[in-house]
Amino acid sequence: MRITKIFFVSLVLVMISLQSCTKDKGPIEPEVILTTVSFSMDVQPIFDTNCISCHNTANSQYYGYLDLSTGYAYSSLVAVVSNGYSPNLRVSSGDAENSVLWQKVNNSQLFGSNMPLGGTITNAEIETIKVWINEGAIEN
Ligand code: HEC
Repeated sequence: MRITKIFFVSLVLVMISLQSCTKDKGPIEPEVILTTVSFSMDVQPIFDTNCISCHNTANSQYYGYLDLSTGYAYSSLVAVVSNGYSPNLRVSSGDAENSVLWQKVNNSQLFGSNMPLGGTITNAEIETIKVWINEGAIEN
């Protein structure tokens, strides 16, 4: 009787110590996401120069019900259903081909007029937007 008790107590102790072993695996490494394009440093400046004259609620220019100004652009785009081209998403993370934003700057004519309306952006800027989306459309 006594021996069985000692056996069970030590069994429990062994189990506890095994459990604490699995926890002690050293410091947890933060997950590093490698991207080449930054939303705030590379993409937002394209919007600032070419888009916010028409896509900016602050100056009552809300074409397409889309605000591309700093602080609003990201949450207006990523995983948001397009106003004019529902059910397509404005930006489908990791998938530029299925993003209204990229199709509209890439002159595909799949979703109405090319953007910027009445203007142009460079191929490098179009590529920047594409790479940002395909790298996961991160708010970096
Ligand atoms: C001269 C005004 C003007 C400028 C500049 C402009 N847009 Fe637009 N945009 C519009 C209008 C008008 C619409 C609504 C009609 C349409 O969908 O084509 C629109 C719609 C859009 C839509 C679709 C929104 C939705 O969900 O229906 C996207 C995406 C867009 N614009 C992106 C851009 C980007 C990116 C730029 C800058 C590179 C830009 N636009 C510059 C006028 C403009």
